[in-house]
Amino acid sequence: MLSYLKKLEDRKKNGSLRSLSSFQGMVDFYSNDYLGLAKSSIATATKHAGSTGSRLISGNSPEAIEAENYLADFYQSDAALIFNSGYDANIGLFSAIPQRGDLILYDEFIHASVRDGIRLSHAKAFSFKHNDCNDLKAKLERFEGTVFVAVESLYSMDGDLAPLKEIAETCQEFNALLIVDEAHSGGIFGKEGRGLCAELEIENLIFARLMTFGKAYGTHGAVVLGSETLKSYLVNFARSFIYTTALPPAQYQYIVQQVERSKLDLNRLKLQENIDLFRGILGDKVHFSDARSPIQVVLIPGVAEVNAVSSLLQENLLAVKAIMSPTVPEGQERLRVCLHGFDCTKEILKLGELICVS
Ligand SMILES: Cc1ncc(COP(=O)(O)O)c(C=O)c1O
Repeated sequence: MLSYLKKLEDRKKNGSLRSLSSFQGMVDFYSNDYLGLAKSSIATATKHAGSTGSRLISGNSPEAIEAENYLADFYQSDAALIFNSGYDANIGLFSAIPQRGDLILYDEFIHASVRDGIRLSHAKAFSFKHNDCNDLKAKLERFEGTVFVAVESLYSMDGDLAPLKEIAETCQEFNALLIVDEAHSGGIFGKEGRGLCAELEIENLIFARLMTFGKAYGTHGAVVLGSETLKSYLVNFARSFIYTTALPPAQYQYIVQQVERSKLDLNRLKLQENIDLFRGILGDKVHFSDARSPIQVVLIPGVAEVNAVSSLLQENLLAVKAIMSPTVPEGQERLRVCLHGFDCTKEILKLGELICVS
């Protein structure tokens, strides 16, 4: 049995298993709403009412339960668990699931939130070369026990995609548990924006998927998608889920509304047209980024050089961030251009022309 599951079994055996319960309609002697402000008519009418407590105490609103059922169904997962942010979700996942004696192999470009979660874990952890399945394989061959593999589907500083199918098949071959952070691909790829794993139809090869709602979905929060057992484990052991006030009830509803709005494939078509237009103007000045990525990278090595171009763009009211070391390796300074479905042709042309002449 995987060692994290043993901890869950132990809780079941000694009767201390926690589960999400609801006491709706009962007299409130459990919330932190000491002054009753979350129940005030203003708070409820403006939808600003807080959740009054953590999910395991008073914050398990019907809205939270409904949203998780909706998201599990939409992303075709057995279960879904909402965290207050993607940062919290990664911290919770990686600190709680891999146990002492397990191994975590992570892509060298993985997001800081995964790294921070790994730091809190008792498992050993090594990176493998970015998007390099052979390096991953070589590292998997050397280890006997339980291995977790952590990747992103779309990397936010390079705009490139992971070879997810190959990685998922490699993990299957070695019995490793794959965790995919879809922060930048949720809402962008797959039918109705279900993400890259869904597009590749490999959801059943993934141990856990993470979607965040602060990017393409235009709101806030994140969901971990996986088995019911994974959900139960996180409810019991993920400290960033347990020890924090839940999102406001209206936020759970809003997440569902935004996912519903994002389903219209027309938005994705418009975004793709804009990506094509930008890449058409820039030609081989674009590096790393996938032809379908909303994040397009223009390498301009040198801090002074990249800053000069981003300043010129900003003087022309075009907000483009220069990315420098340590976020990216020295000598790989770059402009990180984030494209959207709403950008208009005139603005993209101006942006492209200014980059080309500078
Ligand atoms: C790949 C990735 N994972 C997780 C996060 C964290 O998500 P959130 O902003 O919801 O905390 C981000 C956001 O920066 C991200 O880019």
